[in-house]
Amino acid sequence: MNIIKKPSWQIDENEVTPKELFEKRRTFLKLGAASMIAGSTVIEALAKDQIPVPNLHYLKDNNPNNLKLNTYDQITSYNNFYEFTTSKERVKDMAHTLNTDNWKIEIDGLVEKPFEIDFEDLLKKVELQERIYRFRCVEGWSMVVPWNGFTLSDLIKIAKPLSSAKYVRFETKFDDDMFPDQARGVFSTITYPYVEGLRMDEAMNDLTLMAVGLYGSRMPKQNGAPLRLIVPWKYGFKSIKSISKISFVDKEPLNSWQKENPREYGFFANVNPNVDHPRWSQAKERVLGKFFKKETLMFNGYENEVASLYKGMDLRKFI
Ligand code: MTE
Repeated sequence: MNIIKKPSWQIDENEVTPKELFEKRRTFLKLGAASMIAGSTVIEALAKDQIPVPNLHYLKDNNPNNLKLNTYDQITSYNNFYEFTTSKERVKDMAHTLNTDNWKIEIDGLVEKPFEIDFEDLLKKVELQERIYRFRCVEGWSMVVPWNGFTLSDLIKIAKPLSSAKYVRFETKFDDDMFPDQARGVFSTITYPYVEGLRMDEAMNDLTLMAVGLYGSRMPKQNGAPLRLIVPWKYGFKSIKSISKISFVDKEPLNSWQKENPREYGFFANVNPNVDHPRWSQAKERVLGKFFKKETLMFNGYENEVASLYKGMDLRKFI
């Protein structure tokens, strides 16, 4: 297992949202402003009325690499969520049918004792952080998102897997009242529920996040409320949304996209500008809101943190 002791970013002491802002946004008062904590990026966006009022408590990311954030509107208006539709622009208008009330997460497989936990109870057991990450979709677009969440390694400690557990398998909730395409199967090539997986050392890496929000507030439905995975060095399809089941297993899980087309999508899906998708180049990407493309970075810019996980592996073969 590879746990990075010193992450490349520095999380500082909490910053309290300025009093002036409370006065400007009266809605803050309703939420119990005294306990509100937010980073300056959030404060700036909030002051311009660009984001919902923050409702999460978290340690902020100092953004040492000065990544330029995409706006809340960009991040929440262009989504891949096939359970609703294949139209990225329409997901946000359809996602209201997703009901996150009384959301349960089942933990099973090779663990000391399988259990089910209410999402809100899980939130009470973990410490939330902000993680400003690059996010690169296999299709060639990308964005920078200030996620809020807790490390998957924190959840793994709670789950208590056995030493025989070699992989973690995730499943999106199956409920065809909430997710219209699960009933209709318009995009019939995907078999639901959506499934993803990580090797145990990838799952334990400090970059791997269970995200519950962005820009300081709860995860928008279109982005995978209430709980999704974020693996910033891998193509976006690994970042499974609206998780309701986490299983510890001894065999590599067959993830949805690999099952759909193994020639084009593999288990690892590490961002790699040197290995093209069979139908397009992966050398460049278009950041949402930008006209010109930029060079894609090896492991999406997280080479120092994760390259050692794949030592000796032929990255052309293990796609
Ligand atoms: N998870 C589920 N359950 N269903 C999906 O269709 N799409 C994936 C991933 N997780 C998807 C999913 C893909 S292809 C991408 S690029 C990201 O979610 C998109 O996340 P975003 O909409 O928050 O940008």
